[in-house]
Amino acid sequence: MSEHVEESFIKTPKQLAIVVVLSFVVPIVLIVLMVKLVIDRPTADPVAMTAEAVAARLQPVGKVELGAPSAGGAARSGEEVTKAACLACHGTGAAGAPKLGDKAAWAPRIAMGFQKLVASAAKGKNAMPAKGGDASLSDIELARAVAYLGNQAGASFKEPAAPAAKAAAAK
Ligand code: HEC
Repeated sequence: MSEHVEESFIKTPKQLAIVVVLSFVVPIVLIVLMVKLVIDRPTADPVAMTAEAVAARLQPVGKVELGAPSAGGAARSGEEVTKAACLACHGTGAAGAPKLGDKAAWAPRIAMGFQKLVASAAKGKNAMPAKGGDASLSDIELARAVAYLGNQAGASFKEPAAPAAKAAAAK
């Protein structure tokens, strides 16, 4: 057992003091650095962390919009829908669309009857996409827009009234 030697690099009290101090300071410095790393981590885009952006990301797939009731409820008027969804083409005549108020262009269509025109608008016709490209329009809103477009060109279509509460609830 005489060969057994306790090997230690600490040979003097001064070395011991240094080791003791370092064994406290080094972990503390490391912890402070790690905390700083987490706190200061830059987010990709500060705008993406605003309350609105977070809420938008967290929203469920379906949502109920109280401001723009297109699913039952108080549907928008034909004029409102037309301005929002139809005038892009029917205001300018783009893609060969009959222009708002152009009696010559609308007369043969008006002669087809209101229901046929609503059906064309719902399904789409040639360059016009179904529902004018706005799938959020309810049937009532679409029919009202058709009535509005026709009436601006001399027809006397009646904008359909809001559906009965039962019909709205069934949607
Ligand atoms: C992307 C352009 C575009 C938008 C948006 C659009 N339309 Fe049209 N619409 C057309 C074109 C083009 C025609 C002519 C189709 C044809 O007869 O070849 C047309 C024709 C119509 C007709 C006559 C259909 C027929 O059978 O002759 C109605 C009614 C109509 N649009 C209603 C609407 C309503 C209501 C909206 C809005 C909800 C709307 N359109 C939005 C392009 C558009």
